[in-house]
Amino acid sequence: MASVLSLVVSGLLAASTVNAQNYGSDSRTDDAFSYVQPLNTTILGPYGHSPAVLPSPNSTGNGWEAAFEKAKQFVALLTIDEKADMVTGTPGPCVGNILAIPRLGFNGLCLQDGPLSIRVADYASVFSAGVSAASTWDRAILYERGHSMGKEFKAKGAHVALSPVAGPLGRSAYSGRNWEGFAADPYLTGVAMEYTIRGHQDAGVQATAKHFIGNEQETQRNPTWSTNGTVTDVIQESISANMDDRTMHELYLWPFANAAKVNCASFMCSYQRLNGSYACENSKALNGLLKEELGFQGYVMSDWGGVHSGVASIEGGLDLNFPGGLGSYGMDWKAGSFFGKNITLAVNNGTVDETRVDDMIIRIMTPYYWLGQDVDFPTVDPSSADLNTFSPRSTWLHEFNLTGERSRDVREDHGEQIRRHGAQATILLKNENNALPLKAPKSIAVFGNDAGDDTQGFYNQVDFEYGTLTAGGGSGTGRLTYLVSPLAAINARAKQDGAIVQQWLNNTLIAESDVTTLWVPTPPEVCIVFLKTWAEEAADRAHLSVDWVGDDVVESVASVCNNTIVVTHSSGINTLPWADHVNVTAIVAAHYPGQESGNSIIDVLYGDVSPSGKLPYTIAYNGTDYNAPPTTAINTTGVYDWQSWFDEKLEIDYRYFDANDIDVRYEFGFGLSYSTFKLADITAEPLVESITATPEQLPIQPGGNPALWESIYNVTVSLTNTGEVYAATVPQLYVTFPDSAPEGTPVKQLRGFEKVWLQAGESQTVGFELMRRDLSYWDIVSQDWVIPTGEFTIKVGFSSRDLKEVIKITLVDA
Ligand SMILES: *[C@@H]1O[C@H](CO)[C@@H](O)[C@H](O)[C@H]1NC(C)=O
Ligand SMILES: *[C@@H]1O[C@H](CO)[C@@H](O)[C@H](O)[C@H]1NC(C)=O
Ligand SMILES: *[C@@H]1O[C@H](CO)[C@@H](O)[C@H](O)[C@H]1NC(C)=O
Ligand SMILES: *[C@@H]1O[C@H](CO)[C@@H](O)[C@H](O)[C@H]1NC(C)=O
Ligand SMILES: *[C@@H]1O[C@H](CO)[C@@H](O)[C@H](O)[C@H]1NC(C)=O
Ligand SMILES: *[C@@H]1O[C@H](CO)[C@@H](O)[C@H](O)[C@H]1NC(C)=O
Ligand SMILES: *[C@@H]1O[C@H](CO)[C@@H](O)[C@H](O)[C@H]1NC(C)=O
Ligand SMILES: *[C@@H]1O[C@H](CO)[C@@H](O)[C@H](O)[C@H]1NC(C)=O
Ligand SMILES: *[C@@H]1O[C@H](CO)[C@@H](O)[C@H](O)[C@H]1NC(C)=O
Ligand SMILES: *[C@@H]1O[C@H](CO)[C@@H](O)[C@H](O)[C@H]1NC(C)=O
Ligand SMILES: *[C@@H]1O[C@H](CO)[C@@H](O)[C@H](O)[C@H]1NC(C)=O
Ligand SMILES: *[C@@H]1O[C@H](CO)[C@@H](O)[C@H](O)[C@H]1NC(C)=O
Repeated sequence: MASVLSLVVSGLLAASTVNAQNYGSDSRTDDAFSYVQPLNTTILGPYGHSPAVLPSPNSTGNGWEAAFEKAKQFVALLTIDEKADMVTGTPGPCVGNILAIPRLGFNGLCLQDGPLSIRVADYASVFSAGVSAASTWDRAILYERGHSMGKEFKAKGAHVALSPVAGPLGRSAYSGRNWEGFAADPYLTGVAMEYTIRGHQDAGVQATAKHFIGNEQETQRNPTWSTNGTVTDVIQESISANMDDRTMHELYLWPFANAAKVNCASFMCSYQRLNGSYACENSKALNGLLKEELGFQGYVMSDWGGVHSGVASIEGGLDLNFPGGLGSYGMDWKAGSFFGKNITLAVNNGTVDETRVDDMIIRIMTPYYWLGQDVDFPTVDPSSADLNTFSPRSTWLHEFNLTGERSRDVREDHGEQIRRHGAQATILLKNENNALPLKAPKSIAVFGNDAGDDTQGFYNQVDFEYGTLTAGGGSGTGRLTYLVSPLAAINARAKQDGAIVQQWLNNTLIAESDVTTLWVPTPPEVCIVFLKTWAEEAADRAHLSVDWVGDDVVESVASVCNNTIVVTHSSGINTLPWADHVNVTAIVAAHYPGQESGNSIIDVLYGDVSPSGKLPYTIAYNGTDYNAPPTTAINTTGVYDWQSWFDEKLEIDYRYFDANDIDVRYEFGFGLSYSTFKLADITAEPLVESITATPEQLPIQPGGNPALWESIYNVTVSLTNTGEVYAATVPQLYVTFPDSAPEGTPVKQLRGFEKVWLQAGESQTVGFELMRRDLSYWDIVSQDWVIPTGEFTIKVGFSSRDLKEVIKITLVDA
């Protein structure tokens, strides 16, 4: 492929002598509708602009050859107008719709949100959120959750699930969508992507890896528009996520490589700009990184309204325009599309080569055939059309065949799974005086507005005051069909134990009151405080505290109750300023567990399940301790003034706290158990005869050069449950690179983990296979992954700061 990669020598995207204005799609002037950003390196600095990588590579069918042949045959039968329809969404029953072509027996495509539930549906399950799933550090749960979700999407007639999320990765503690994704670490997120996608696709539904790429904040993720009469103008363009090439590869692209590796059907490009050009027309990202370097064979769809050009986007690598209207939210569907009929025009006037449009459709149809979606795929449940507020019937431009069975119950036994997933995601952060597990207390006091039932409906898109939080807001939420609240589950358990439960759910009142008025007739044995923290799409978090004066609630209760147990249902990081309070005996982070929330937490609180969740991020002492806050309050009015510089480079989350030796309250990977564990006998054995610094240049496969995925070392440890109860822990492997690695290499990086359940006294050997990628850095000069020579230090322990076993391996270029 012709590309400008070879010109990138300084390690910064396009920090070469190339004047990108002269190259290709990111600065096209021959498309009246393309988005043209003037490149000015004085303003933009060394990175923050993106070289053109053209043309958009054809798919080769690599990995799914038979389906690829069928897709090619399908395309050969299409008229140019049908081709235009195939790459352009249209309002209809689902969140995204591709029109049927009855003469070819093609029933169209239905795309539905989102990463924890089929959102626009009835009789469907609300699973745990991504942050909870990541907290399990459990491959089997990640797969099972993905698979069961996939079955629900398919049974409701959705061909494509808009799930899972690896962007945001968690650069900023404050980002409003972190909870939809997994962990503030590329390795753990990569594994989570891989298992979730395999789960979805094994169930017959196409997965969508999103949001590609650099979607690390919500503020100004879309442009600011102004409408004057019928004319809508951009006042300010969206934020530009500006990052260097090494950071791109080692952090943000990493988990997406796992997605490509397991043949994820589609990628969704993100709203914001990336190094200056919109992510959905960024040819470096879509053509260069994704389709060339990672060998991605599926299709790139836009985020809803994330398209800002026609020809430039098509040439930049975008294959499918959603929802299909002109661009941003709020614009009239009837106003037309950058794609649609414009594709016909552009092909007919010679601006776009029809083979490019063919490739777009081949990429869309190959996974469809690969997953057998052409045979007996369920019809779209008509109830979804009724629930679809995004494109209600009044907006439809075409008729849809909605003759299938209405309101199908697709939940199966998933409630039982969700209960288990929630319990195993629960993270025990503090446990003094064996406060937990509870020993059948006879008198319990429950506090907090997160304890009880939801009072404002089961499809909550707002930060309601009363009721437990099981998910955040936006397209990643779900519609509950029932909810087991913590209070309901505690009441049920207390009844079995013949206990009394006192409750007080008004946070404002608790914070201001002497809660001993509840002490009837004697003080309770335990006070359980339920706190919550909201986050939603399109807004970043304003602070890292718990919501609804939760900190004051804890202080009020703990001032009089010497056995105060705090449970949080939170989108992510909370700074827990009362964590050292002597009367706060236990702290439990339960995140967003889904519909069985109460049962999941009861299983842990009462000891039916030993907690085994581990933090997928770092809890610092203070919100100001975190680096990389979202870029906000740009007060200047220049069109391109929203710029976010990823100057911390590789140092996000624990990499930053480690590099700067900052004490934290609870470190990445931390979480207690009801048992104790011991690690011993670390070994490290090479799995190949000789290890070269650079990978063999094998033909690109989905996921990139297959040599990068080859296991080259096996590290083993012996793990023993030295406590009294059946329990699990997660041995974690961190790698410290040799000194010869380039400046900026993190102090240590997660490169292996395994969730292991053991009976009391039982031991097991745990193996961590290290792949070539795990021991490499991205070399900006050679544009390849390189293993540095010298001594690697490999540590295995129970968290990023509780490392027990150490072994060193020395690698030299053979
Ligand atoms: C680039 O920006 C600088 C600083 O605003 C300005 O002085 C210069 O004229 C600009 N160059 C071009 C080519 O627009
Ligand atoms: C894609 O394949 C077509 C033949 O089907 C060819 O004409 C076109 O040049 C190819 N495009 C690229 C970018 O290789
Ligand atoms: C709106 O457009 C009209 C005519 O196109 C123009 O006269 C007027 O100044 C515009 N108003 C604003 C606020 O830009
Ligand atoms: C073509 O795209 C332009 C915007 O670039 C839009 O105004 C127009 O309506 C589109 N045409 C059709 C037929 O969709
Ligand atoms: C061809 O059509 C496209 C889509 O309408 C338009 O953007 C482009 O400007 C046209 N080019 C020419 C040369 O007419
Ligand atoms: C509508 O869908 C049903 C079920 O797939 C099918 O039997 C029927 O032929 C379709 N009707 C039309 C008009 O396409
Ligand atoms: C909660 O308590 C506050 C403070 O006393 C009061 O203002 C508020 O009305 C109460 N809320 C409800 C729903 O009772
Ligand atoms: C802890 O709780 C006891 C009541 O059991 C109370 O007397 C004491 O003041 C509390 N301690 C703090 C630091 O609030
Ligand atoms: C905690 O408070 C209870 C009830 O007031 C009391 O019986 C118990 O001794 C206290 N425990 C401690 C460790 O102070
Ligand atoms: C957090 O840090 C800020 C700035 O250093 C300081 O003003 C504030 O008091 C700290 N908050 C806590 C709870 O320590
Ligand atoms: C923008 O204005 C706000 C409010 O005056 C101020 O706090 C903030 O620092 C300003 N931001 C910048 C980047 O100057
Ligand atoms: C790595 O070690 C584990 C534990 O001993 C073992 O199960 C696994 O087979 C080993 N992997 C390879 C590739 O030898």
